[in-house]
Amino acid sequence: MAIRTLGIRQLAPTFAAEISRLNLALPLAPRDLTAVVEALDRYGVAVFPGQNLTMQQQIAFSELLGPLENSDEGSPTYQEFRREHEFADGRVSEVSNLVRGGDLLELADMRRLYQFANELWHSDSTFRPVRARYTILSAVKVPASGGDTEFADVVGAYDALPADIKEDIESLVGVHSPTAVMETLGALQADGGGFQSTYGLQRRPLVETHPGSGRRFLSVPSHCSHIEGMSLPEGRSLLFYLREHATQPRFRYRHAWTPGDLVVWDDRSTLHRACRYKERNEPRQLVRTVVQDR
Ligand code: OGA
Ligand code: MN
Repeated sequence: MAIRTLGIRQLAPTFAAEISRLNLALPLAPRDLTAVVEALDRYGVAVFPGQNLTMQQQIAFSELLGPLENSDEGSPTYQEFRREHEFADGRVSEVSNLVRGGDLLELADMRRLYQFANELWHSDSTFRPVRARYTILSAVKVPASGGDTEFADVVGAYDALPADIKEDIESLVGVHSPTAVMETLGALQADGGGFQSTYGLQRRPLVETHPGSGRRFLSVPSHCSHIEGMSLPEGRSLLFYLREHATQPRFRYRHAWTPGDLVVWDDRSTLHRACRYKERNEPRQLVRTVVQDR
């Protein structure tokens, strides 16, 4: 199997791997690409230390994994922000507390909302018509302490559910909303930022089979607002239970960033969240590309 050539070191009890033997700045041989996809199917999170890719190199590598999301779509405010920083290319966005890579964001800058939203367990773009398959982050600037990214293995978590609960949730459908997380944060109110979105609701099964591994996974991100056919409280209490189950420490991997790290994660088989740091004092800047799923 090609995956053996990667120099894999597993990082957490049930998932996540470091891959040391590839230089992603060079064009990948087809067998290496196959191996990377196999590793993502098996481990959900792939950490590539010391890559230091340019934006163009990150785009080129990301596009090998599939078509890229345009992060502006559906978000007029984000389009405005893009004009302000140097990323003219819609296939790239930034996770950052900086304006134009320099000064820290103003206290009232709406971009701070996206940082707070990232601190809730989620999977990227499940509230969009096309969700994310993979997210790729490269670290440019990292704070001296904090600002890690934490992942949870929703495949291992599904396996560990009691049989009767697996049965109960087998054919349920979650309803994902672009405002669910912002509502939790109070950001829909004028004094909370007045967040708006042009997207409607998306229906997604609570349990799916991963096409690469054939294993079942739980889809319970914080953007999942409720469960179809259930009252809000009944659906939400079930979602809280499942999310709490899936994010227990035994299913987690926490990545402490070093500049130059590139991390790819599978948004189907994992949940993730940003960890707190001194965002009013210390710069944190990561370059982000997203491969679309369906
Ligand atoms: C993301 C995200 C987490 C982080 O880019 O989708 O959730 O730690 N990032 O910045
Ligand atoms: Mn995210």
